[in-house]
Amino acid sequence: MVDSSEVQRGLQDVVALQSRICFIDGVRGRLIYQGYDIRDLAARSTFEEVAYLLWYGRLPNAAQLAELTDRIGALRALPPPLAERVEAMPVDAHPMDILRTAVSALAFFEPEETKPGPSSIGGAQRLTAVLPTILGQFHRRRAGLPPIRERPELSQAAYLLYALLDREPSELEEKAIDVALVLHADHELNASTFAARVTASTLSDLYSAITSAVGTLKGPLHGGANERVVRLLDQIGSTDRVEEVVRGMLDRHERVMGFGHRVYKVEDPRATILRDWSRRIGEAKGDRHYFDLLRRLEEVVHREKGLYPNVDLYSGSIYALLGVPYDLFTPIFAASRVAGWTAHVLEEYEDLRLIRPTAKYVGALDLPYVPVDQRG
Ligand code: ACO
Repeated sequence: MVDSSEVQRGLQDVVALQSRICFIDGVRGRLIYQGYDIRDLAARSTFEEVAYLLWYGRLPNAAQLAELTDRIGALRALPPPLAERVEAMPVDAHPMDILRTAVSALAFFEPEETKPGPSSIGGAQRLTAVLPTILGQFHRRRAGLPPIRERPELSQAAYLLYALLDREPSELEEKAIDVALVLHADHELNASTFAARVTASTLSDLYSAITSAVGTLKGPLHGGANERVVRLLDQIGSTDRVEEVVRGMLDRHERVMGFGHRVYKVEDPRATILRDWSRRIGEAKGDRHYFDLLRRLEEVVHREKGLYPNVDLYSGSIYALLGVPYDLFTPIFAASRVAGWTAHVLEEYEDLRLIRPTAKYVGALDLPYVPVDQRG
């Protein structure tokens, strides 16, 4: 029995459940999906392979990969009544709110896919396939771009960029987005995955669990940080202003987004890989502005606070250089993490126990009850 007087604020270091999906070595800076090092997966796998790995626990052979790729491609179209609803959503809403509402609404039209249990794998693939379509349909309307077409022949990385920008990426751009999707696909019991598992642990349905996860990812202390990093870079403007802006923020006790992590005590291995991609894309576009600012930001934040970059530091610079609007950065994170969320929900259904911690009560006891007409 845990001593109820011991409160682990933010559930820090609490081991809440057993999982085979993802391992983080926060001291050595390693991230493992189902036994495979993220560095190998980022260099050699695609997002589709990684989604298969997360869902089925093993890397696919060529035939299995082709089958999954075809399946995801074939599941991209939205049910027409959902497409109509997305069409009616306010154009000035944040795309994360659109995503959360659309994921929730999808359940109206797919009751079979949402059912709790191992058969939810169908829903996992469906959600992974449609997230770019939802985002593309919404963004294209507000940006005055032509309506989206489902392009089953495109990889998930290429489709995501096509959905958002109405153009197909170059080989290098497709690889950059694909690496970002691989790196964001899972991360053990991060807040949004935990939210999904808590929902699933009540035997609620898959789409409810993913709705919880999208709402949780949105926050600036979690997935919302990538958008804020690039806004900060724009505010800073030039490398000679980094020092002054960062010192000002730290003096005001503000957090510098893209730094620090609950689990990593060293550099987040995803940041190491994304740093390299930020440089490569910057050089390919002839624009090292973001990269140079980020390197300087790293120096100053490390010197002042001893903090290391996390996954959100460099990702936004890559998306921005590809022309993606800032408010779509966190939705791109969601379009990848949905593979991990759904894998965790499936695992939860396999070995389910209601997640229900306790609180240390610090309120009053035994207050005398006063009827309403006698209260001052
Ligand atoms: N900027 C400035 N100070 C920071 C930062 C930061 N980014 N991160 C941590 N600190 C400081 C805190 O102010 C605190 O200092 P104090 O002890 O003097 O008060 C100390 O470091 C410990 O911080 P905690 O909030 O207790 O650490 P926690 O483990 O809860 O924080 C978190 C992890 C939320 C990620 C934090 O580092 C942060 O806010 N980072 C900025 C937001 C961000 O980049 N989020 C993305 C994380 S990755 C992801 O979710 C995808």
